[in-house]
Amino acid sequence: MPKTTDFALCEEYLQTVRDLLAHPDVQSMRRFAQHGRVDCLIHCLNVSFAGYRVCRFLGLNSRAAARGGLLHDFFLYDWHKGNPYKGLHAFTHPRAAAENAGRRFEITDRERDVIAKHMWPLTPRPPRYPESLVVLIADKIYCVAEAFAPSELMGARLYRLAREKGLLGAPR
Ligand SMILES: [Fe+2]
Ligand SMILES: [Fe+2]
Repeated sequence: MPKTTDFALCEEYLQTVRDLLAHPDVQSMRRFAQHGRVDCLIHCLNVSFAGYRVCRFLGLNSRAAARGGLLHDFFLYDWHKGNPYKGLHAFTHPRAAAENAGRRFEITDRERDVIAKHMWPLTPRPPRYPESLVVLIADKIYCVAEAFAPSELMGARLYRLAREKGLLGAPR
């Protein structure tokens, strides 16, 4: 595997998710708080980039981890204010996110699995692919890290870089 600098890796990652990131509904996740002071999109960037890095290192499908990871919490509501679906948010949101993703993007079976299984074992079916397990673990780690992080995590830096590179489309 070629040695890549951190900056080059960030650029490579952003190219992998650029069409998703440019979508207004994905950007709308910035409006919803996730953990602590971190919003839903920055959380998804944290998890997606971590999944991408780990899967790339392990020779797994890093693209599926990046794209599924970015959409894993694409449920599009503020879960602190209630759940528009029947049931508790923790159980219902992976399916809501997978449905939202499937309506807006062409997602692969592996990407759908990453999204739909990320709360296992709270949802009944276990991950079918190793990439789903990697993203699931990254999500748990960032749930804790975001609540306690004293400084900015990777997702916020990636978002800034994407904006500087004009990957977010016209300002809204
Ligand atoms: Fe989630
Ligand atoms: Fe999450």
